[in-house]
Amino acid sequence: MLPNYYQFYCPVKILSGQLAVSNIPFEMTLLGCQRAMVVTDKGVVKAGLIDMVKSAFADSDVKIGRIFDEVPQDSSDKVANRIAKMFKTERCDCFIAVGGGSALDSAKGANIVLSAGSGNILDFQGADKITSDLKPLIAIPTTAGTGSEVTKVAVIYNETTETKMSFVSDKLYPDLAVIDPRMTLTMPPMITAATGMDALTHAVEAYTCIQKNPIDDIYAKTAIDLIRRYLVRATQDGKDTEARMGMANGALFAGIAFSNSMVGMVHALAHALGGVCHVPHGIANAILLPWCLEYNLPKVPEYIAELSGLLGGARAYLEPLEQAEETISLIRNLLKKLNRISSIPEKLRDAKVEEDQLPEAAEAAINDGALVYNPREVSYNDALDVYRKAF
Ligand SMILES: [Fe+2]
Repeated sequence: MLPNYYQFYCPVKILSGQLAVSNIPFEMTLLGCQRAMVVTDKGVVKAGLIDMVKSAFADSDVKIGRIFDEVPQDSSDKVANRIAKMFKTERCDCFIAVGGGSALDSAKGANIVLSAGSGNILDFQGADKITSDLKPLIAIPTTAGTGSEVTKVAVIYNETTETKMSFVSDKLYPDLAVIDPRMTLTMPPMITAATGMDALTHAVEAYTCIQKNPIDDIYAKTAIDLIRRYLVRATQDGKDTEARMGMANGALFAGIAFSNSMVGMVHALAHALGGVCHVPHGIANAILLPWCLEYNLPKVPEYIAELSGLLGGARAYLEPLEQAEETISLIRNLLKKLNRISSIPEKLRDAKVEEDQLPEAAEAAINDGALVYNPREVSYNDALDVYRKAF
């Protein structure tokens, strides 16, 4: 069924394939740029991934002006300021962010600082506050999960107030997303499983939330199909380039889907667990996804049912409710399989969550913005109940 109204926007050029990184210098010239600033973290450098980027520039007229490799776990306003300062001193004209969500958000944060001139980054918090054009941004993801290479969001930690600030703007879309399977080959099994389940959650929530639309649906379904084919394989054998490529594309499609549809209850509850109990985002989503789908089942049985075939279900003749239950049990089986291969936890108690932390998390969850898009309303008691089931 078509919604009464919807919008779709994804202005990111995508390069996907073996050796895609090698095309970056040419793409930089198309963007009118000559000196790139690479934004990354020490782990990415240690894995040899920056050497791969550097070698792409070996015979090129365009250059890497500076490599900033001190991106912390959570990008912060202070880091964004430092990067912006270096960008100016080194006379760079574009960013290449290499890493997970934090590297990309740090580059986006620095970009906001630069566009603000002498202004304050805090003035641009919230939705659609950035009006000037930003410097070109090239994103090279090294995990297959966040989808931030195709999203218009940046989350920056405010070191003074100790809170996370969200920036949402069409100006924050990267210009180029470079999906090269060589960049994800060194990801360990547990991170592969967790980031892959984050991508699956993006696709499932995009397909079942209230802002779903027919274009996002196509991306979400393709993402789910790819993740079902390749997540177990990539977790089992990190050097399986076909599986790595499949997962990198799955995460990319899921990112395009949720960037337009938004997410829902799983993310709200996962964000809260991250804040209160420091559970990594992908692990929290992996554990919560089946329980939240069960909670949403009475409201959107058809949407959940429509995903069973993509997850490997063969019984298309079932009633919607029965078929939706099959979808949920297929996701549970996937998590079980991943647990056997990578030890990703299946329960919150195994993810270092204490039962007495759940009320505080439930309180935080019901104030999370992602709940706005969930198909069923969630009260404090509902959130607590889902946490207890997943505990
Ligand atoms: Fe996520």
